[in-house]
Amino acid sequence: MCGIVGYVGPQPALDIIVEGLSRLEYRGYDSAGVAVLADGNLRTEKRAGKLQNLRDALAESPPPADGIGIGHTRWATHGAPTDVNAHPHVDNANRVAVIHNGIIENFARLRVELEERGSKFHSQTDTEIAAHLLSDELQSAGDGDLAAAMRRTCRQLEGAFTLVAVSTEDPDLVVAARRNSPLVVGRGQGENFIASDVAAFIAHTRDAIELGQDQVVELRRDSVRVTDYDGTQVEGNEYYVDWDASAAEKGGYKYFMLKEIMEQPRAVADTLLGRLGEDGTLSLDEMRLSPADLRDIHKIVIIAAGTSYHAGLIAKYAIEHWCRIPCDVDVASEFRYRDPILDPQTLVIAISQSGESMDTLMAMRHAREQRSKVLAICNVNGSTIPRESDAVVYTHAGPEVGVAATKTFLTQLVACYLVGLYLAQVRGLKYGDEIRTIIEQLAAMPDSVERLLDTMQPTRDLARSLADSETVLFLGRHVGYPVALEGALKLKELAYMHAEAFAAGELKHGPIALIEPGLPVVVVVPSEEGRGVLHDKIVSNIQEIRARGARTIVIAQADDESVRPYADDLIELPDVPTLLQPLVATVPLQIFACELALAKGNDVDQPRNLAKSVTVE
Ligand code: G6P
Repeated sequence: MCGIVGYVGPQPALDIIVEGLSRLEYRGYDSAGVAVLADGNLRTEKRAGKLQNLRDALAESPPPADGIGIGHTRWATHGAPTDVNAHPHVDNANRVAVIHNGIIENFARLRVELEERGSKFHSQTDTEIAAHLLSDELQSAGDGDLAAAMRRTCRQLEGAFTLVAVSTEDPDLVVAARRNSPLVVGRGQGENFIASDVAAFIAHTRDAIELGQDQVVELRRDSVRVTDYDGTQVEGNEYYVDWDASAAEKGGYKYFMLKEIMEQPRAVADTLLGRLGEDGTLSLDEMRLSPADLRDIHKIVIIAAGTSYHAGLIAKYAIEHWCRIPCDVDVASEFRYRDPILDPQTLVIAISQSGESMDTLMAMRHAREQRSKVLAICNVNGSTIPRESDAVVYTHAGPEVGVAATKTFLTQLVACYLVGLYLAQVRGLKYGDEIRTIIEQLAAMPDSVERLLDTMQPTRDLARSLADSETVLFLGRHVGYPVALEGALKLKELAYMHAEAFAAGELKHGPIALIEPGLPVVVVVPSEEGRGVLHDKIVSNIQEIRARGARTIVIAQADDESVRPYADDLIELPDVPTLLQPLVATVPLQIFACELALAKGNDVDQPRNLAKSVTVE
């Protein structure tokens, strides 16, 4: 959501900024703009729609290529996605330009005050008040100190925001401020970058500084200075980005999503790498919780959003089964409003690919306020959620650019299994060789996923044949139920189709009324180990819907003969233990949704209205 780029250095600023914005396109946006400061003049250009519209406008009337600059891709919150609402916003004197990610909650009141003082507004955005306020602060102090003006501005703002500004008063300086919304500095040689994530500058430098809450940074060619809102200098958190630029390229695929689906075997393998020591003990990435703390835990609450929430639902089955600790799973945006019962013996697991989802961040902060411990499962090193957690397991999936999560989901599952096993280890609930056996089963998964990916052509053909369907239903039991939810979510996100998932047992309590002749229903059948009651019940469910004319698309283990007579279409899975089955069962559903969306001509990397990292609540 909202991409931010800023550059100060000897290279042509405009090129660097537009290139950076293109690398942030995956975050989701509906307009884009730049401001370049050269020879004491500020020039802004902004356009609704795709970045290409901005490129065309810049080609028609090119601003100076050098100087310093800032750029933005906007995901509309206040005001429609129009040219005028796009960022940057400037003050009436065209002295400062500001870009923003987040929501300024007290903008309506501030706007009235600014209008009373003579500011003329042109947009419907909350951001524009920041440009006027910053300009007022700069002018009233009369000292040309943009950073100090930014600090005073931020103290007047409420909400979550990242602001980046340039001013004609100090043409060698980019200033940025951060509250909640992500912001990271890239340190170069004689040049510096700022962006909402490292993808924007990774082609230029991999030395990064993560900014903390309520910090302001001043970037010049040869210096980076971080202060708090009072102006006291503070240390930013420096780190090295271990993704290289090529990891964020399409690598011969037409879409990032196709590439990322195919990368899943490697992503799963990398997430498992080095976890099991010679002595059979498991280790996690950052564990600031002692074994004693973990032995004290009497309840686990998992909080997450979107696809990460589905990973959490699957984790519950594994953790409760292996550790015998009650485990709730909450949609992050609902969590703190239900007044959850939390205490120091509650372990909260926050699952977030980006580490920046505002709903998840706010939910985990609420948990920490109640003195619960927080363990983060995250893909982005140095992002806010892991930084504020007591323990972290990174998912090592590499950068995921497609907005709809694929490889990070599988790696989140692996991380959840690791956490479950780690807890079982620490609490003495499993022998070392039991843990080793499950780790070995997990270690066999990359190979299973690889082989499965080689057999997906019939699934693609099936998806294309359903491109005109209006609805697809998904059914599952046990861990197959969250898999069904994820399959339905993928179809909604990518193909813009109505799709719904149900626990197969719930079918008879209502959803069965939806079944009509020809309706495609995807059913996820538990694997070998789960045969018996669970398996037989779902086979009955398949029969029930088929008897009512549904087109049954059955996802089952390849040697499961019992489902064949009732499957109009059969997608065969490798033989894996039930609890681990989501690692394979999800794959055909990703391919199904992706192919169906492509058949409809949709952009699977940047689905409409969606953002990769949702930094507003
Ligand atoms: C957005 C994305 C989803 C993602 C969700 C949670 O809605 O479009 O793909 O699952 O956020 O994101 P997180 O980064 O917290 O996992």
